[in-house]
Amino acid sequence: MNASNSPGFLITAARFLAPDVKLFQIHAPRVARKRQAGQFVIVRIHALGERIPLTIADSDPVAGTITIIVQGIGKTTKQLNALNAGDSIPNVVGPLGKPSEIEKFGTCVVIGGGVGTAIAYPTAKALKAAGNRVIAIIGGRNRQLVILEEELRAFADEVIITTDDGSYGEKGLVIDPLQRLLGQIDYVLAIGPIPMMRAVANVTREHKIKTVVSLNPIMVDGTGMCGGCRVSVAGKNQFACVDGPEFDAHQVDFETLTKRNAMYRDMERQSLARHQCQLEGMAH
Ligand SMILES: Cc1cc2nc3c(=O)[nH]c(=O)nc-3n(C[C@H](O)[C@H](O)[C@H](O)COP(=O)(O)OP(=O)(O)OC[C@H]3O[C@@H](n4cnc5c(N)ncnc54)[C@H](O)[C@@H]3O)c2cc1C
Ligand code: FES
Repeated sequence: MNASNSPGFLITAARFLAPDVKLFQIHAPRVARKRQAGQFVIVRIHALGERIPLTIADSDPVAGTITIIVQGIGKTTKQLNALNAGDSIPNVVGPLGKPSEIEKFGTCVVIGGGVGTAIAYPTAKALKAAGNRVIAIIGGRNRQLVILEEELRAFADEVIITTDDGSYGEKGLVIDPLQRLLGQIDYVLAIGPIPMMRAVANVTREHKIKTVVSLNPIMVDGTGMCGGCRVSVAGKNQFACVDGPEFDAHQVDFETLTKRNAMYRDMERQSLARHQCQLEGMAH
């Protein structure tokens, strides 16, 4: 919460990285001081709005700012992406979740699909700082959806890009370069759409490579109380907000995660449609 009792958390900078993907710097000094790679905040953009989890991509403890990168896919993320520097966000709660496990593993492959690259970025940076060789594989449906390439090149030993349509980098899926690198990998972190994380887990399981995924179940309170983010890992119920969001990819029940994430799809579509109608009404 904002301990200063000010009307909210000031957005100090905002810019689009790709169509519908926006980077924000937000003044949140306490979160900026405490956060570690892999942690997230829960944000509410108006008093009666829903709470949404967003990874802390970076922070500047001296300036007291955190960076979040938001893909506008539904009502709340689109409303958030309409905000700009100088606007405020009423609630930013965090840092939440367990920090990423950072060790000297050896050669680490960090795989980001779409906005998953933003979620993987802070952990990739921390793995490099711990002395690992870091190879980043970032994928998107097309060139415009490949994000953070320059930021990753600034520290990664290698950056490999794939696009589904071949408009940039290699044509194909992130799994293709991963297959080529097998034999020289000690650790994999994969973050992106569930089918992508599942495919990575299937490849690395066979080769017994330690693999971690960051799960994205629906979250509400972020404190382990509501049960919204329940996931099944190694046959046990875990709450992604307090026990994760990172888990051993080879133990995750992706089937149940897919079903639970689809539970509110109709409501989410209706909510987005109402939001778009309101926007169109305002434009006329
Ligand atoms: C730990 C964690 C970190 C995340 N970090 C990022 C990030 O850095 N950048 C980013 O763009 N997105 C991130 N997400 C996903 C982001 O929270 C959802 O895209 C957002 O909540 C969608 O809300 P909406 O109203 O715009 O869309 P909706 O139309 O409501 O939902 C679209 C889809 O988003 C997911 N979703 C909806 N509500 C929630 C919720 N309360 N909690 C989790 N998922 C939800 C569902 O899969 C849903 O199908 C993260 C999710 C988790 C769990
Ligand atoms: S979000 Fe409520 S238990 Fe995790």
